[in-house]
Amino acid sequence: MLDRREKWRGYWDDQAAGYDKGMRFWDRLLYAGQREWVCERAVGEVLEVAVGTGLNLPLYPEDVRLTGIDISDRMLELARIRADELRREVDLRKGDAHHLPFDDGSFDTVVCTLSMCAIPDVDRALGEIHRVLRPGGRLVMVDHVVSPNRVLRLVQGLIERFSIPSAGEHQRRRPIENVRATGFVVSETQRLKRGHVERLVAIR
Ligand SMILES: C[S@@+](CC[C@H](N)C(=O)[O-])C[C@H]1O[C@@H](n2cnc3c(N)ncnc32)[C@H](O)[C@@H]1O
Repeated sequence: MLDRREKWRGYWDDQAAGYDKGMRFWDRLLYAGQREWVCERAVGEVLEVAVGTGLNLPLYPEDVRLTGIDISDRMLELARIRADELRREVDLRKGDAHHLPFDDGSFDTVVCTLSMCAIPDVDRALGEIHRVLRPGGRLVMVDHVVSPNRVLRLVQGLIERFSIPSAGEHQRRRPIENVRATGFVVSETQRLKRGHVERLVAIR
């Protein structure tokens, strides 16, 4: 497990410099408006899991207190630069979604965007998110998910043959099912882009 974690940490370190440029393309094509939708639902003490380069940082309400974790030092360096440029106070820490370094019930909101496809053990990460949320706290998420179309699902399966071993990137997950299985109550959800993108709010 440790070797695999090192492999993915190294992978994301290598991606960091080009991440924003690549993601701008996908944000326009698939995720337009999704980051805003997620961030405007954040209240109080907020944890962003797998914060990456901090693309969501400019979108949070002024009055939330932000903490972000990620396994990649290089992604976090870029998130720190962004936070400084925005003059936004953010507690950015290296951390693994499988073992969140926070006490039980520490947060009012946990945000996770476009990362459940990349975190190796979704159930473990969701268990940790459930633990660090206070009772009644909310998980707000968006991700690309398995297609409702049979042919496209086959294509996603073919892509996964390369994307999982090379990038740890899953195409056919549907985290809402894991969210429910973890004990959250989903209060808001939509599938968008012909079902390829799913966003949700879930209550602990
Ligand atoms: C596709 S990027 C998404 C980044 C950001 N959430 C966004 O919306 O742009 C996936 C991120 O997940 C992080 N990541 C992958 N596995 C992780 C883990 N086990 N714990 C914490 N972060 C992880 C990577 O370092 C990377 O920054």
